[in-house]
Amino acid sequence: MLSSPLPLLTVALAWALPATASPIAGPGPNSLHAAQAAFNNPFPHLVHPDGLHLAHEPTTPPPSELAGTTGAQERYDGHAVWRVNWHDMGDTAKEGILTLLETLNIDIWHMSAASIDIRVPPALTYIRKVLPSFTTYVPDVQALVDMTARDVAEDEPEGGWNVSSIDTPFHDAYHKVEAVYAFGDALKAAFPDIVEEYDIGTTAEGRTIRAWRAHLKAADGEPEHEELEFVIQAGQHAREWVAPSASVYFLHSLVLDATADPNSHAANLLRHFTFTIVPIVNPDGFEYSHDHSRMWRKNRQDVGGLFCKGLDLNSNWGHKFKAGRTACSDSYAGREPFESLETKAMAYYLINGTITDTPPRDHKVRAFVDLHSYGQLFMFPYAYSCADFPPDAENLMEAGLGVAKAMRQAQNGEGYQTGQACDLTFRSTGEAIDYVYGTGDTRWSYSAELRDTGTYGFMLPASLIRPTGDEVNAGLRYLAQFIYETDIDKP
Ligand SMILES: *[C@@H]1O[C@H](CO)[C@@H](O)[C@H](O)[C@H]1NC(C)=O
Ligand SMILES: *[C@@H]1O[C@H](CO)[C@@H](O)[C@H](O)[C@H]1NC(C)=O
Ligand SMILES: [Zn+2]
Repeated sequence: MLSSPLPLLTVALAWALPATASPIAGPGPNSLHAAQAAFNNPFPHLVHPDGLHLAHEPTTPPPSELAGTTGAQERYDGHAVWRVNWHDMGDTAKEGILTLLETLNIDIWHMSAASIDIRVPPALTYIRKVLPSFTTYVPDVQALVDMTARDVAEDEPEGGWNVSSIDTPFHDAYHKVEAVYAFGDALKAAFPDIVEEYDIGTTAEGRTIRAWRAHLKAADGEPEHEELEFVIQAGQHAREWVAPSASVYFLHSLVLDATADPNSHAANLLRHFTFTIVPIVNPDGFEYSHDHSRMWRKNRQDVGGLFCKGLDLNSNWGHKFKAGRTACSDSYAGREPFESLETKAMAYYLINGTITDTPPRDHKVRAFVDLHSYGQLFMFPYAYSCADFPPDAENLMEAGLGVAKAMRQAQNGEGYQTGQACDLTFRSTGEAIDYVYGTGDTRWSYSAELRDTGTYGFMLPASLIRPTGDEVNAGLRYLAQFIYETDIDKP
């Protein structure tokens, strides 16, 4: 179709490649040279000297940023998602592809050792020439965006959410930050002896990161295990909408089951554990993904870039942190660990307790699960490298396999893969699970990629919130039981 792709490539690269002198200057001869090199050599190993910070500032704002300033919704007409099969490539060749994708600002949806899913705008389809074989997974991204836009509930109902049944319409739709928080408050109001609310911290745009904790008083003669805290966080990545929804579903269902029957498994778990749910770790990004740019992943902090905002929270934690190179990248890690207010606040909470209203933590968090989408994976540390094998790997694997089985056996459950994060994903430093395990010394540390495996990706239909929630429910209850039997009540 393209007889001479090079001019197009040069145009596309004009705002993607480094302006060597200053971020404001247009692309110099060097970047044109690099563009040609990138085209002539599929894996050019474009060098990013670490000192050249924010070198990839575009000379015009990328669409995702324009959307915010004009109040418009960014559109993805003609964008497709390709699953590129890179199974046979070595790590160096993979790195070469990643560098090229980053240079072109191509959005990576999912990465595993076998394949990588990328969102390709119509102007960049020429990259097919330098990619190994691929299949089109999502032919029309905008159609999916339109679909989940209709899946967002407008407002909370008159008189607030009725939380007395899991059948509440809340779980049939996606919601914005305030509605999720209103639902948490309704839970607290309905179950004041069980559910508490805490503020974890404040974001760059002034939103509060809120947490809900649930615990039941021990029955007579039973030991109190309030120190067994199980923290579930969701929504580090803004566009992964099903994760916050599933975390709220889990909390709701646990509290309902426990209050319906004091002898239930749920009640038992809540007597022994305190479950802390932080449904939206990144409320600024989450809101931005609703209002301006459905594909938004990062937070909305000013990082000193000319046009591009935001840090990738799950690259910004302080264990084996690796500084980011370009502010416009969707996986921009920042200059320093905990540069993002959200990871800083969460780390403080996990290690020390809340800043505001709890006494300092005198015990470690026992378990931590970080919810994401998509891919159907349940993973344990480390993410940054497979050479670093956690001393608890066998236990983590054994519990993880049980979790995956419990998820599959849930009503309408799907298959989930279990393993070390470095094995199941590719190249990820500064992740939450690594920090919580490696620095925080929490032995049971996992991250989950919830549904699906790529058909809808981030735009999972709201009708699948419940089945996903049921899986999370089954998996996390299994995990808590496993931890209890392993750590406390050894058989
Ligand atoms: C809440 O829903 C339950 C059943 O789902 C119903 O019995 C109850 O009356 C409702 N409460 C209010 C205040 O509407
Ligand atoms: C925990 O509190 C100590 C003392 O205030 C502080 O130095 C440390 O940075 C905190 N840890 C985290 C992870 O924020
Ligand atoms: Zn994620």
